[in-house]
Amino acid sequence: MPDAVTAPAAPPAAIHRADYRPPEWLVPDVELDFDLAAERTRVGARLTVQRNGDHDAPLRLDGEGLKLIEVKVDGKPAEHLHAQDALTIPIVGDEAVVETLVEIAPGANTQLMGLYESGGILCTQCEAEGFRRITFFPDRPDVLSRYRVRMHADKILYPILLANGDPVAHGDEEGGRHWAEWTDPFPKPCYLFALVAGDLVANQDSFITRSGRTVALGIWVREGDIGKTGHAMESLKAAMAWDERVYGREYDLAMFNIVAVADFNFGAMENKGLNIFNSRYVLADPDTATDADYDAVAGVVAHEYFHNWSGNRVTCRDWFQLSLKEGFTVFRDQQFSADLGSAAVKRIDDVRALRAAQFPEDAGPLAHPVRPDSYIEISNFYTATVYNKGAELIRMMHSLLGAEKFRAGTDLYFDRHDGTAATCEDFAKALEDASGIDLARFRRWYSQAGTPRVRASLTHHAGEGRARLVLEQTVPATPGQPRKAPVPIPLKIALFDELTGQKYTDRLVLLEEKRQDLLFEGIGGRPILSINRDFSAPVIIETDRKVDDLAFLSARDDNPFARYEAMQQLMLETLVTAVSTGSADHKPVIEAIRQTLTNPAMDPAFIAESVLLPTEAFVGDHMLVVDPDAIHAAREKLRSDIGDELESQWRAAYASSSANRFEYSPAAKGARRLRTVALGYLMAADAEGAPAMALMQFENADNMTDRQGALGNLVNSDTTERQTALGAFYERYQENPLVLDKWFTVQALSMREDTVDKVAALARHPDFLLANPNRVRSLVGAFTANQRAFHHRSGRGYRFLGDMILTIDPLNPQTAARLIPALGRWRRFDETRGQMMKAELERIIATPNLSRDAFEQATKSLG
Ligand code: ARG
Ligand code: ZN
Repeated sequence: MPDAVTAPAAPPAAIHRADYRPPEWLVPDVELDFDLAAERTRVGARLTVQRNGDHDAPLRLDGEGLKLIEVKVDGKPAEHLHAQDALTIPIVGDEAVVETLVEIAPGANTQLMGLYESGGILCTQCEAEGFRRITFFPDRPDVLSRYRVRMHADKILYPILLANGDPVAHGDEEGGRHWAEWTDPFPKPCYLFALVAGDLVANQDSFITRSGRTVALGIWVREGDIGKTGHAMESLKAAMAWDERVYGREYDLAMFNIVAVADFNFGAMENKGLNIFNSRYVLADPDTATDADYDAVAGVVAHEYFHNWSGNRVTCRDWFQLSLKEGFTVFRDQQFSADLGSAAVKRIDDVRALRAAQFPEDAGPLAHPVRPDSYIEISNFYTATVYNKGAELIRMMHSLLGAEKFRAGTDLYFDRHDGTAATCEDFAKALEDASGIDLARFRRWYSQAGTPRVRASLTHHAGEGRARLVLEQTVPATPGQPRKAPVPIPLKIALFDELTGQKYTDRLVLLEEKRQDLLFEGIGGRPILSINRDFSAPVIIETDRKVDDLAFLSARDDNPFARYEAMQQLMLETLVTAVSTGSADHKPVIEAIRQTLTNPAMDPAFIAESVLLPTEAFVGDHMLVVDPDAIHAAREKLRSDIGDELESQWRAAYASSSANRFEYSPAAKGARRLRTVALGYLMAADAEGAPAMALMQFENADNMTDRQGALGNLVNSDTTERQTALGAFYERYQENPLVLDKWFTVQALSMREDTVDKVAALARHPDFLLANPNRVRSLVGAFTANQRAFHHRSGRGYRFLGDMILTIDPLNPQTAARLIPALGRWRRFDETRGQMMKAELERIIATPNLSRDAFEQATKSLG
């Protein structure tokens, strides 16, 4: 990109939360004028600036990679200094009109931050700090402005011109060009700015708000994709109605648009009135999207829509407060999805995601509080901790207050802070003020990193009819936080009589101190402890419950999540024993699965989730030193025994959940899920004819869930059916990038011994496109989640990942940096593996011109 000033390579500095100061200058009004073209776009900006407070500092605007053409103050060419990603302009009075003209090159923007091109569409991504790559501006979330945006572009290449807010005017220009103007009446931070120019078509619909206003809805895609937008539209309308009903939040503009693009750094973006999405969270039809994809579309559409209040109307004061909008909005989208489908299965999914991504993060060198204290590159803090643990904090406050007071609290929060930039503290304060419930200690959850551990021991005195529960908590040390205070932990607890199954008690206990004793009276028979039901707190529970107790709970607990959890615990203990002693008794697990599988009262969707073994990575998280090969062997042995011992039950489950025509309903989804799980166990047991069954499922499927389910099983095997299915899948879908991603992913997740080499070969496949983040994640991201393959004892997996990171970093630092934490787990493995992982981190750090993103992740990962 042409650049007047190149920044010198200074060591990247950290930014601290404690250094927050209000902005020196405000920008109440912005007018932007875009002369759009892929090779070269001119951006004219007209900012009304106001001195904020009593100081004589000059105006300082952020700008990165911008070619500066002119600067005017109050209509006259003005003195200015352009250096170090900033433009400094002295201003005499307290108000001025500042005009700049810059040039950018969207077609050459491979970082996908700022204005860039994706498949011929020009689009923007500004959160967190992309707006400075479009024009000079105080790029911080506490500067709120009203925007008027005019776009000029070629009418054939870019017939559709969209921006935030509502359209006000448009017209033709000479040279086959046209223009359009949009205004957004709601003041917003620049990270919510968006524009799109492209050859797009829309699925158009409308929504009538509860106060009777009509909102025009549009989902904009490339022409061939229009048939895949129905589910996103239904989800959007459901989300709009849900937010009115559950939070009293109504949409506020006359128009709401969503645009799908193929190249996008993450899931989607909540720009005011103009959400821009990774196409994988918009496009869905039965032939190309799985049930999980459908659920993800609904969840992300809702998430971005919900941001209109939790994020846009009330935004964040600074990026340390990111969880204010993200944790809260994830909680809201989780509630929405739970209301729409099976709440129990949704909770299982959410907890699985938390344990797979956030617990390891919290236990490793990149651990940080939900409200971090410092960062080098904010893009690195869009983490499972900020999003998912953040959502768990909101969930805990929801249970502490109860639904009604929680709602009073959010009403007060939206009311009090509407149109402003707020903090996590403001949120807690509003909940406190509305409920009268003290959250003083609860705030520690925001400032302390690390997953708390709760040790629970239950003793029973049969003679006195009394049980005593001792709870003890510890919060582990994390980088920069050696000592921790206890946090308030809401634990849903129940006791069951071991013989009768009768429930003695069921309550919410708040563990506030380091240690707490609870007495239960009237407990005649031996009680069995059910704890952290519904996963009421994001903690690790340690108990001395015996195998029989876990088996009892897995069959008889009346809380579905607790049933799932007991089964997982039973499986986990079996696997950990097998890995550490070389063998384990598989019978209790097999019997518990038999009970669940043959219980006619249970929902197939729930059965399918609870009979799945914990992942190899999850087992690894429970070992002192992770031994990937031993874990793999132990888990495969257990899987094959389960398949073998219960073969007729799996065949019955398979048969009873087959043979219906595609339907997108909870019952049909549950049946499909169970079918593929059953097939997996039959394949694992090498059951007679299993590969042929899988291939038949693959070939006859009328939907992607069954087809991918069959392929995902075959790909682990050493059969001709494997080759047939992989080849057919490629042939059928090679023109569809989202489905081709699946083809890469199933192979990266294969449990075969040769996966590490297959993945390296796939990285040389002509369809492996480094410039597309979805494709990178589909192969490389999936591979790092495959514990056995990635941690291959040769170290070839680490070397491959290091090469990928270094190849991608110059193109797209965010995507490269996101791959680094996998290497940061080096302390968890044996010396040989650990040294090889460290060596890759060192090689990354030693590379010249490393991005700030990769520098921060690699140096912190080295610890
Ligand atoms: N706010 C977006 C969301 O809804 C994500 C933005 C991510 N930005 C980033 N730099 N990683 O979750
Ligand atoms: Zn979000």
